[in-house]
Amino acid sequence: MNKKGVKPPLRYFLLFVFVILLLGAARYFERLTVPMHRSFCPQSVVTTNVTRSASSINQNRPALPATPQEVLQLRRANYEQPRALIPPRNDVLTVTPWLAPIVWEGTFDPDMIDSMYKSSNITIATTVFAVGKYIQFLRDFLETAEKYYLSGLRVHYYVFTDQPQEVPRVELAVGRNISIIQVPKYSRWQEISLRRMEIIQRTIEERIHIEADYIFCMDVDMKFHSRWGPETLGTLVGVLHPWYYEFTRDQFTYERRPESAAYIPMEEGDFYYMAAVFGGSVKEVHALTKKCHEHLEVDKSKDLEAIWQEESHLNWYLLYNKPTKVLSPEYLWDDQKGGLPKDIKVKRFSAVIKNKWEVRDNV
Ligand SMILES: *[C@@H]1O[C@H](CO)[C@@H](O)[C@H](O)[C@H]1NC(C)=O
Ligand SMILES: *[C@@H]1O[C@H](CO)[C@@H](O)[C@H](O)[C@H]1NC(C)=O
Ligand SMILES: *[C@@H]1O[C@H](CO)[C@@H](O)[C@H](O)[C@H]1NC(C)=O
Repeated sequence: MNKKGVKPPLRYFLLFVFVILLLGAARYFERLTVPMHRSFCPQSVVTTNVTRSASSINQNRPALPATPQEVLQLRRANYEQPRALIPPRNDVLTVTPWLAPIVWEGTFDPDMIDSMYKSSNITIATTVFAVGKYIQFLRDFLETAEKYYLSGLRVHYYVFTDQPQEVPRVELAVGRNISIIQVPKYSRWQEISLRRMEIIQRTIEERIHIEADYIFCMDVDMKFHSRWGPETLGTLVGVLHPWYYEFTRDQFTYERRPESAAYIPMEEGDFYYMAAVFGGSVKEVHALTKKCHEHLEVDKSKDLEAIWQEESHLNWYLLYNKPTKVLSPEYLWDDQKGGLPKDIKVKRFSAVIKNKWEVRDNV
């Protein structure tokens, strides 16, 4: 008899049981931890922060939500393996020197992207200006957007117009919303272009920072033709201009007068971005519109107007604040260019052919 009154054979048996349990527990914990590391192989993870901090809404000065950042997961699915030595496209640049992806057909898997964003419940604000005669383009814009633009995701359109009663009734899918915001009628179309940054900045401060996670600012004289999916979402997004993407930097129509706040010297520049679309997280687009608005005011105080108004300022901004994602001209084609060149495999969104002299007032 030992101290605890357990007979020696029983003691050995208990010791044996204890060791078995210990081994079992060790294997159990191993199983728990290993897949966590392994999950980086079969699963693709995108980070977006959708936390809309409640505190930011209560403060007097609008604090903007942080860059969306929620881990979006993809369940195991059958898709083509990405091959390190086989680039999907070798006719176009698919990544910038600062490692931002350039989105072209063939560089992404639409089904994978869709399933990653399916349960994210993010809202994308989308602004358009339908002022003066441009109101005629709104119906086509909205109807084609409902067909092709960020399908299945929450989209909130913000239509800025001087004719709220003329806004067409377009049937919206579930999760889609539209707000109509009255703006004054400006005397020159350049004025609309000059005021757009300021109006978007103010609307983000007033409400969009509460109502959305991402934002795209778009021209209204446009139509969607095929998929524009969540592959376009990013912290700061610019789109290559369909007329300039083949050109060298000295041929870009940047503002070249050093007196302007939009000035870019001849030996600088990455791409020429078209102002018909820009976007990103609400926070980053707020910073962009605020800076461009400031620069537009600085130029105005010197009685200067940059050569392509807000587009010149946008190009200045995106040169010194690199976009995290660049969209190819598939996402911003111009129907006046005629047929598609072989590098453009699909036309997703394009400017409709119009007679500028007919739709622009007082030019
Ligand atoms: C996500 O956003 C919240 C609220 O704005 C912020 O407090 C938090 O730090 C963000 N998380 C990350 C990982 O950036
Ligand atoms: C998704 O977000 C909207 C508002 O942004 C909210 O009303 C809704 O309850 C959310 N849905 C889920 C499933 O979280
Ligand atoms: C649309 O947005 C407005 C303004 O944010 C909101 O009051 C309204 O409830 C929304 N409607 C739907 C159907 O989500």
